[in-house]
Order: sequence, then structure tokens, then C-alpha cells
Amino acid sequence: MRLPDSPLKFRSSELDPIAHAGRLRQRHLLSSATEGLSPTPMPLPNGHCVLLLDDEVEVLEMLRDILLQAGYQVLATTKLATALDILQKHRLHLIVSDLYLGHEDLGYQIADAAQLARPRVPVLLLTGKPSFDSAAEAMKSRVAEIAKKPIDPITLLNCCRRTIAESQLSQRNADLEAQNLVLAGVLPRAIEAKDPTTSGHAERVVHYADSLAKRCGVSEDERASLRMAALLHDVGKIGIPDAILTKPGPLTADEREVINRHPKMGYDILASLGENHVVRTWVYQHHERWDGKGYPEGLFGDAVLLPGRILILAEVYDALAETRSYKAPWPVPKIVNLFRDQAGRQFDPDLAHLVADGLERMGSRFFSAQPGMLF
Ligand SMILES: [Fe+2]
Repeated sequence: MRLPDSPLKFRSSELDPIAHAGRLRQRHLLSSATEGLSPTPMPLPNGHCVLLLDDEVEVLEMLRDILLQAGYQVLATTKLATALDILQKHRLHLIVSDLYLGHEDLGYQIADAAQLARPRVPVLLLTGKPSFDSAAEAMKSRVAEIAKKPIDPITLLNCCRRTIAESQLSQRNADLEAQNLVLAGVLPRAIEAKDPTTSGHAERVVHYADSLAKRCGVSEDERASLRMAALLHDVGKIGIPDAILTKPGPLTADEREVINRHPKMGYDILASLGENHVVRTWVYQHHERWDGKGYPEGLFGDAVLLPGRILILAEVYDALAETRSYKAPWPVPKIVNLFRDQAGRQFDPDLAHLVADGLERMGSRFFSAQPGMLF
């Protein structure tokens, strides 16, 4: 009968005897299970590949058997150089390594190399001498987990499952973040391509909104979402006809109605942001007013949360301070007068006076100065 091939192909020179023996044993188990001769049922492969590194052959064999029985694919070696070679050549989901190989704490070297792998491989370090120093060093080397030897099978398998799951979750979050960065880089430029007079608008609104949010003590997490919302706030304008979007002079009532659809269009476009729904919400609300006369919902007062009220104000400030197809830039005193006049009407009154005071005191440098906490 032809034995099923191991999913991992090695030349014999690439592996030390332990790794080779492990592969032979796995083949044997697969073979026996296929023929129905083994009293031990062969567990289904779970699709995860683990590299084992320990200089004690007996320990290595014990760990390998536990993982094989749990359905892992296992590569095992007693040598750091071989482990580094395997790390370069194969897709691994976890490395389980002894901290001390011989008299050296070489476990950290495999951990450091695993950090540089793409995708990054989490490392579970095993040590017979756990201490504060080893835990601190583990954190420094970004080891995913450190556990005490001897380790029982249940603890080992729990550690492996948890470490792999946490690593996969963190990788998914990193992927999402990368996608969001692409989204945030492409979409504002698509809007500016439709309406060149708004060139740089989104980036400036990010700066104004973040500067104000910092002065107001908004948390770093909310500021990150606010920066994203500021960058994407007008993304719905992609759906507005060019003839209306770039029309010089005043709009008709019908054209204004079309323009006013852009917050909802932006909300729909950003559906893929998924869990970060607050970004979509603030994009949806960025033309709401404090007095409830805004659109699309006519929300009143603090029904729009503080970061959203900051975004509205930053967006208007940039529209006033920059050239538009229908107007020249407003001088600072005229902007100050508008913010004071619209405090409690278009804008949150506290925010409007905060900006008006700052502009009076510092001019446009207000937004570039190092902000302090004002309230
Ligand atoms: Fe807008």
C-alpha cells in the first residue's frame, strides 16, 4: 500500500534525526490508521504546524507525541541552526522552544527570528527556571507565552491553542488596519480628483479635528477613529455628479438636495469598515447642527458625541479658511465672528467659543500650536 505523503517535504539533510524520526512516526500512524490496525485512533489534522526546539531528546519526543496526537503537524529539532532554517523555509503557526539550549538562553534567538518572519510566528517558551527576569526578557523579545517545565499535556495543548488563536486574531487586526490605511489613502484622493478645488481638504480637517480633540481631552482611541472619519467625511461626494459638485456660484434647491445626500452615501460606502462603526456614524453626521437644523437626521445638541461635534467644526473652519469655487478665503476676524454668531446654533457653543478665542489670540497658528487641556 502507498503511504500518504506528509504535507511537509524535507530533504534529509535539512532535518536532524529527531525531526526525521518524527516524520517517520507520523507516516506510521497515518498508515496504521488507514489500514485500521492501530488501536489508537489517528486524530484529524488541525492544519497547524508546530516547530519544537529542545536540546533534550526525551523532552522533545514527549512534546512531539502530545502534539501529534492532538492533530498538529510537528517539526522537531535539537539544534537552533536547524530551527532557524525551518523557520525560513516553512509556514509555521507556532514555535515551542526550550529557553535554555545547553547552557545558553538561545530560546530568545528563535523568538527574535520568529518576530521577523512574515507572517510573524508566535513563540511559546518553556523553562525549568521561571523567574521575573526571564518573564521580563520574554516580553522584551515579544515571546507570546512562557510556561514552566515540566508541562503536562493538557496545559501544553491549552497554551498552544491559546497562543495560536491570539496570534491569528492579532494578524487579522493588523490586516484590517492595513486595509483601512489603503482605504484612507485612496478615497480622499478620489474625491479630490472629482473636485480639485478641495485639494488637501481632508488632510487639513484631520489636523484641525485632531488638534481640537486633543485640547478637549478626547481619548487616543477615539482620536484615532476621529482622524479616520475626518479623512473620509466627504467620501460620499464620489456619488455626486460633477456638474453639481464643481458648479461655480450658488446651487438651486434641487442641486442642494442632491449634495445633501453625500453623508448617507459616505455611510453606505464605508459599510466595509465593519466593527469601527463610529467612523461611519460620524461621517453620516458631519452636517448635523447643534440646533437640530442640520441633515440628514436633524439631530439636536449632544445627540452627536463630542468627537463628531469637533469634526463638524473643523470641517467648516477649513471650508471658510480656504478658497472654494464660489468664494475667496475668509480673513480670521470674519471666521471668528461666524463662530461666535453660530455658537449654540450651527456649533456646540463651548467648542465654537474655544475656537473663536484661540483664533483671536493666535490666528491660524491656533491649530498648529501644541495644545493644552482646556476642559
Ligand atoms: Fe460634507
